[in-house]
Amino acid sequence: MGLSRLARRGFLGTVNVPTGLSYRAGRVYRGKQGDHNSIRSTGDDVCQSLREAHGTEDTPMAYVHVVANQKGGVGKTTLAVNLAAVTNDVLRGDPDQSPVLVVSTDPQASTVWWADRVDQLPFDFVQAEQSPADLARLKHIPQYRHIFVDTPGSLENGHILQAALESADDVIVPMPPEPLAFDPTARTIEQVLKPRGLTYRVVLNAWEPRDGRADLDQTEKYIDARGWPRTKVVVRRYKLHTRASADGLVVTQYPKNRVAMEAREDFFRLALELGLGGTVSAPAAAGNGAR
Ligand SMILES: Nc1ncnc2c1ncn2[C@@H]1O[C@H](COP(=O)(O)OP(=O)(O)OP(=O)(O)O)[C@@H](O)[C@H]1O
Ligand SMILES: [Mg+2]
Repeated sequence: MGLSRLARRGFLGTVNVPTGLSYRAGRVYRGKQGDHNSIRSTGDDVCQSLREAHGTEDTPMAYVHVVANQKGGVGKTTLAVNLAAVTNDVLRGDPDQSPVLVVSTDPQASTVWWADRVDQLPFDFVQAEQSPADLARLKHIPQYRHIFVDTPGSLENGHILQAALESADDVIVPMPPEPLAFDPTARTIEQVLKPRGLTYRVVLNAWEPRDGRADLDQTEKYIDARGWPRTKVVVRRYKLHTRASADGLVVTQYPKNRVAMEAREDFFRLALELGLGGTVSAPAAAGNGAR
């Protein structure tokens, strides 16, 4: 397992959080490669805080949203990062202490690549792999209310997805409105999520309105025929989203022009529908995915 960073807002050094845990906040940090046996981090302080993090009945635990689809390139990273950004935007209190953590479990580390380009990452971020125990510990760091876990988009890394799902309170399944995504999404839901009794919702992502509704309608019919719960909000395709990682922006940092506001709106609406702003939506509302 590796945890290679907890960071945001420039290199601040070690920060003591009110719980007595201490960890380093800083720029994206890549830990030593090849260390899969223990938490790898910016320093012993991070390891220590995660080892010590344990909840009691009185400790509110973060709600863990795992973003998963074994099909590559469907928008897992895009949704994890931008949902984290809007959730932080809505919930933020102390500007130096985000209630939101993004955990990337993808060995390709594209989230790291993105986060590394963002000057003022508005949430905390950590690169982690493989160990369910460490993910479970993150949930007990009292600072966080929502943790978004980005997962790999390949069948070979199924074990990483399985590990991430150990800590999941719910699963967000991004899916583009295109037939090529049907089978892999079905495999993820029917063979991975449902047998575990996990609450999940499909989110249609990267719909291009200029192409008309035909593909969208067909995909919605396909989803509904299988009885999979899906959000009403569809995230539209915008070049801004495609460029965001290279531009070092998350959705709350887009410019204030009309198109950017529209692009942003989808994520705020999606967060609202998922109940991320205040009390977390009841898992039972997700229909047949209820655990
Ligand atoms: N709504 C959207 N509008 C425009 N581009 C998008 C949208 N969603 C995703 N993309 C782009 O599609 C590509 C794949 O998205 P992303 O990296 O989020 O998918 P992924 O599921 O995390 O992929 P992988 O399985 O490889 O990790 C990226 O270039 C991303 O910018
Ligand atoms: Mg990804």
